[in-house]
Amino acid sequence: MDIRPLGPAIGVEVSGIDAAKEIDAASRQRLRRAWSENGLLLLRGQKIDEAGLVRFSRNFGELELPPASAQRVYGDGGARQPEIWIISNVIVDGKPIGGLGYGEAEWHTDMSYIAAPPTASVLYAVEVPPEGGDTHFASMTKAYAALPEDLKRAIGGRTARHDSSYTSAGELRRGSKEITDPREAPGASHPIVRIHPETGVPALFLGRRRNGYIDGLALEESERLLDRLWAHCTDPRFAYGHKWRVGDVLVWDNRQVIHRRDAFDPNARRIMLRTQVKGEAPLAAKAA
Ligand code: OGA
Ligand code: MN
Repeated sequence: MDIRPLGPAIGVEVSGIDAAKEIDAASRQRLRRAWSENGLLLLRGQKIDEAGLVRFSRNFGELELPPASAQRVYGDGGARQPEIWIISNVIVDGKPIGGLGYGEAEWHTDMSYIAAPPTASVLYAVEVPPEGGDTHFASMTKAYAALPEDLKRAIGGRTARHDSSYTSAGELRRGSKEITDPREAPGASHPIVRIHPETGVPALFLGRRRNGYIDGLALEESERLLDRLWAHCTDPRFAYGHKWRVGDVLVWDNRQVIHRRDAFDPNARRIMLRTQVKGEAPLAAKAA
């Protein structure tokens, strides 16, 4: 196994691993450590079916089933695995075969609006458009470390609400009411600074900008602080943008990265298989 940085900010490319094969205990440990320490793993040139992706993903923990609202029309000809979600813009018989469409997806952490958000998300590229649809990742450990002292003090010991009503593509989730006042948004509250349970490193944990709210603050103050925090943490110096090739597997760590996706041509096809690893309640950092 060979491990090389993807760029100065975040992520490593791991070569010498065949995701379709059983991974021995020592290699699994190296893989997991690389994931915890770097936040993002890339494996290129993989050939796996749905069952293979489920098996590979289990190296990072027990899997979470997609929510009932997730679309599931696409079948690859083989057996369909209940753990697999489809991310795609392709429409068959008038129905999207998966979620997220072709538009931009804003910076977010996956499902941070639940009490125990997923640790890993795994995405496998089956079909990719000739251009666009890049996925960007930003390191929230680096962002926290570089935060000005006054901002660190302002968020120390505080929690923020993570709105569950909108997807990262800006769509209202099925069964959700439209929210205009962030203080009324449904969703879990989490520590704004969380400690990574395996590395002990603190990370900013904001979820997504839309309807974010810092508990206990006046709305205007919360908005002002969140605007500053988001302007800081989405700075390109903390980020890596991924141009997908068919056969790429990305595994990211939602405890320390945020991600977003570029839009692409609606007439191009993009099909990704996705799994998610069950998480735990975020560990709060001690107030500074
Ligand atoms: C996701 C996601 C981005 C992409 O699957 O959680 O944000 O590039 N996907 O499809
Ligand atoms: Mn996502």
